[in-house]
Amino acid sequence: MSFEEAKKLDDAYVMHTFGRSPVEFVGGSGMRLTDSDGKEYLDFLAGIAVNCLGYGHPALTGAIQEQADKLLHVSNYFQIEHRGEVARRISQLANAGAVAPKDASPDAPQQWRTFFGNSGAEANECAIKLARLWAKRGGNGGFDIVCLNKSFHGRTMETIAATMQGWAQDPFCPLPGGFIGIDSNDVDALRDVFAQKGSSIAAVLLEPIQGESGVHPMTQEFMTEVRNLTSEYGALMMCDEVQTGLFRTGWVLAFQAYGIVPDVFTLAKAIAGGVPMGACVAKAEISEAFHAGDHGSTFGGGPLACAAADAVLTELTEGTAPEGEEGEGYLEHVRSVGKYLAEQLAGLPHVIEVRGSGLIQGAELEAGLPDAHEFVARALEAGLVINATGPTTLRLLPPLVCTRADVDEMCGILREVLA
Ligand SMILES: Cc1ncc(COP(=O)(O)O)c(C=O)c1O
Repeated sequence: MSFEEAKKLDDAYVMHTFGRSPVEFVGGSGMRLTDSDGKEYLDFLAGIAVNCLGYGHPALTGAIQEQADKLLHVSNYFQIEHRGEVARRISQLANAGAVAPKDASPDAPQQWRTFFGNSGAEANECAIKLARLWAKRGGNGGFDIVCLNKSFHGRTMETIAATMQGWAQDPFCPLPGGFIGIDSNDVDALRDVFAQKGSSIAAVLLEPIQGESGVHPMTQEFMTEVRNLTSEYGALMMCDEVQTGLFRTGWVLAFQAYGIVPDVFTLAKAIAGGVPMGACVAKAEISEAFHAGDHGSTFGGGPLACAAADAVLTELTEGTAPEGEEGEGYLEHVRSVGKYLAEQLAGLPHVIEVRGSGLIQGAELEAGLPDAHEFVARALEAGLVINATGPTTLRLLPPLVCTRADVDEMCGILREVLA
């Protein structure tokens, strides 16, 4: 079918919820995508932080093929191959902190338990339900969830109630209640809300780096105060690591950069390298609030997604990144290439600020230029996939296998586009 015919079908039969670019990708290898005309693109979006191992990584595609041959789906009523192993790996990674993930002890004192869903929104839904239930069944009896302005937590009704942005919320009112918005990094506002609401607050939910609103990191002071106040009032600290989690920031989990440990965190996007999976991860004692039947999913944690996640987490934890010194692991790789990416972005014309960590970077453009989405469209024409989070912000989220040579090539294209 020609591109035009496929687009006609899309326009007629697929809901118009996305503004789509006029390109159909049909293949990929490493850092590169190929469209239906055979044109190649360098990918600095990774399906919005999903394709962490790039395209066609043999460890991942091999695991998916093998599992597809064996068994695609069975109900969660049964034991599922790889599921326990993936959850054990997540628990180990949550305890990794500053050490190399392969050195993290599987027997570290904190045990974490995971609920598997299919997306980031579902992972956050699960976290919100768990917080409410935990408050009732052993916690502080509260129900309010404190969230941050300019957050993004998903597209279900609960998760847009937690997403404190008018464009996401207004068309869908009335929203589920019990969500309170404060400004991010506003320590006074945080103290005020706890002083006013006290133990009616069941949890604080936040992204350590707000991704969708333009790559805005939380400050150390704010994260520390969230941890202190939630502990003081018996509320949960919950980190949405859907975009930032699993090595993207140069930390296994972005909260580890702050030296704090939340009670709950959520994952999705990269966890199964492109196969849909979401995960809500809680300290084991908090997870006890869920009893059989309180939450569930038909597909979540199924055989295919678990086989893929097992392959991704094994590769990220034990594999060797594609360039650099002999034996360089992904964590060191993302840190060093991420630093290089930030430096190179800062040297581009019209870029006035670079924000982020590792391989999540936002480049702020000076005022008075065309809308950043126009630069994204021009970059696409020039064979580069990037993204804009607003009229002045470009966002770079390459696969974690990105090398310095890829950064140089990307910056070469972007330099021309911006000029
Ligand atoms: C921080 C964060 N949370 C939640 C979501 C929602 O994830 P999904 O689209 O898989 O439901 C996203 C998606 O971009 C996200 O960036």
